[in-house]
Amino acid sequence: MSPVSRVRSLVRRRLAPLAGLAIAVLCAGQAPAGSRVEDLLAKMTLEEKIGQLNLVSGHHAVTGPYTRSDVRSAILKGEAGALFNVYGAEYTRGLQEMAVWQTRLGIPLLLGFDVLHGYRTIFPVPLAQAASWDLEAIEQSERISATEASAAGVNWIFSPMVDMSRDPRWGRVVEGAGESAWLGSRIAEARVRGLQGKSLAAADSVAACVKHFAANGATEGGREYSGGDISERALRETQLPPFKASVESGARCIMSAFNAVDGVPGVANDRLLRDILRREWGFRGIVVSDFGAVEELTVHGVADTATDAARQAFRAGTDIDMESRTYVSQLAALVRSNAVPISEIDDAVRRILQLKEDLGLFEDPYRRSVPAREASLVGNGSHFDAARTLAEKSMVLLKNERNTLPFPIAVKRVAVIGPLADAKADTLGPWAANGQPEDAVTLLGGIRRVLKVMAEDADIAFSSGGSIDRSSPADIAAAVKIAARADVVVLALGERSTMSGESASRASLDLPGDQMALARAVLALGKPTAVVLFNGRPLTIEDLDKEAPAILEAWYPGSAGGLAAARILFGLAEPQGRLPMTFPRSVGQIPIYFDQRPTGRPAGDQPKPYTTGYQDVGPRPLYSFGHGLTYTSFFLGAPRLDQPVLKQGGAVTVSVDVMNTGPRTGTAVVQLYIRHKVAKVSRPVKELKGFARVTLPPGGVGVAKIPLAEGDLAFWQPEGRFAPPEGGQISVMTGLDSDQLKATVLEYQPRDVTRQASN
Ligand code: BGC
Repeated sequence: MSPVSRVRSLVRRRLAPLAGLAIAVLCAGQAPAGSRVEDLLAKMTLEEKIGQLNLVSGHHAVTGPYTRSDVRSAILKGEAGALFNVYGAEYTRGLQEMAVWQTRLGIPLLLGFDVLHGYRTIFPVPLAQAASWDLEAIEQSERISATEASAAGVNWIFSPMVDMSRDPRWGRVVEGAGESAWLGSRIAEARVRGLQGKSLAAADSVAACVKHFAANGATEGGREYSGGDISERALRETQLPPFKASVESGARCIMSAFNAVDGVPGVANDRLLRDILRREWGFRGIVVSDFGAVEELTVHGVADTATDAARQAFRAGTDIDMESRTYVSQLAALVRSNAVPISEIDDAVRRILQLKEDLGLFEDPYRRSVPAREASLVGNGSHFDAARTLAEKSMVLLKNERNTLPFPIAVKRVAVIGPLADAKADTLGPWAANGQPEDAVTLLGGIRRVLKVMAEDADIAFSSGGSIDRSSPADIAAAVKIAARADVVVLALGERSTMSGESASRASLDLPGDQMALARAVLALGKPTAVVLFNGRPLTIEDLDKEAPAILEAWYPGSAGGLAAARILFGLAEPQGRLPMTFPRSVGQIPIYFDQRPTGRPAGDQPKPYTTGYQDVGPRPLYSFGHGLTYTSFFLGAPRLDQPVLKQGGAVTVSVDVMNTGPRTGTAVVQLYIRHKVAKVSRPVKELKGFARVTLPPGGVGVAKIPLAEGDLAFWQPEGRFAPPEGGQISVMTGLDSDQLKATVLEYQPRDVTRQASN
């Protein structure tokens, strides 16, 4: 290094901490926010602009083969307006300093990361969170995730994943909110609110990036990265609503998808990105491609060269290229040859700079990179408690014959068996950001903690019973041996966490390996036994359901998950979860979901020829959408309407009397479904439109009140717009799951018939 550059570098290092202040002072009194963006834009060269459209991965990349960048040299060359997979207050501060002090215009960086269910404190996986049906708790978990991630310098989070899927073979159902577009939309809103906070500029706020636009979950056969053939109706009514809800909640970023819709990959799909997202919905944020997806346009066979891929993706509306480096290598020439108008480049850069402005990065690029904040906020004890509470709310009691659960707390001998009983990484789940397996409390750890306090001299024996893939006869014998001596048995079964998530499609949804043989051998002892399942998707567990007296679905429950499960098993917490996704009896039933469309030949309770279904398996799922038992019982009255007629622009309130008829305090999740009796297009047999949580002590009586507005009746009309029907009867159904419902009828009269008659 020359003496001059040494001095410059020294000055920079010394002055770096003051950089934010310097920028603030330089900009104070100047033009109002917004024109900073224009001022900068006016000074930028074409190459500097294109640098802003490039997103480069740091060394923690996990999801694609393209990582080839040295982030520091990319910053110095002005080729990286944004980085991802970089975190840590000190490290990110260094990167921001480099961008601010060692590039010509000193533009700070967007720093992204996949924080899907926690940064260091890991909450239950998103599918599990959806099972909580608790929007406030989900929002709070996102607030905590944003607080932790932003304290590590992250300002942009690739979440929520709002893809709708009705196929549990697809591993990514673990990242979503299940099969209901209505519930998925409400959860998407809660997540965006939680991540972005009240002000995006706050040090603990991040920009949410909603993914993967669109129809990434409409796979064929559950195969990863495959696009399904999807109708306009399915796109509008099932796939798009959670995206629209996110945009309406102010989400600042959308990730365009790998998969094709109607033959055009999401990343280059101008109908999705320009017509629907920007024109119809008025989205003004940024669009980033999925990992390497711009370059993959050539593999899809819609672009013949990288140049063509860059042109198509950019002109369709993908502002930022994630990791394929196609924009940095191709866009400048495309602009020079007039294949891409500079005005479109300017628009994209303007949106990115505006986001940086709104995140407060120009004012203080280091506000999220303060080591002391990171030390006090990341992994904070109160965050662990919130993770435990949400895990308790997320777990679904699928079966509980003869009140096997809760186990008596004064138990003497407990056998804890199974390959997932003490599996720390699997307790966290497949996409655990910066979560550390050593932080996780496993089920065995949780049972030890609970019984240490509640039953000090309890004897807890553990046997893994083999691995997830294989149990030898000796493994099974060792498990049976400890079970035979126990008063109660806990069997922890399921999938390794890497069997769910991206690139984790499965053709069989049975318990992997020899776990069913292990379960049979242990269950044959006839001991009070509870199976605790750890998995990221609905599994086909009909045999287990026949043989096990109690089954608790724990999903991948996160850092505090084992403690939450133990507290439920021993009655210190109530099971509260309800399934957000149907459990099929066999893979052959897929896709199976609650809001299926009617057929002219519906299945009855008894098999009958020439009705819909199969010869070799019944029409019903193993566990329906919305199913979940409690440790108490509830009586629900029929739904009552505060007015029998819904007028134009109006709303009604649906009330349901709820009584806790059992021995313990519990929470009823009263669900509201509707069905249009007659409409221009056949409507689903039921559609979820609301719910209310009612917690009652034994003998307690309450009323669930659920609003139903005219907008809830709207569907995609044949003429191509969302609108309610012209009028008619709506069946309003309520119950504790999507299967056992009581109904009443609502008249929908958008026009005043009395006035019309007298005219
Ligand atoms: C995934 C995205 C993720 C991205 C960055 C991709 O492979 O599909 O969900 O945000 O990688 O990690």
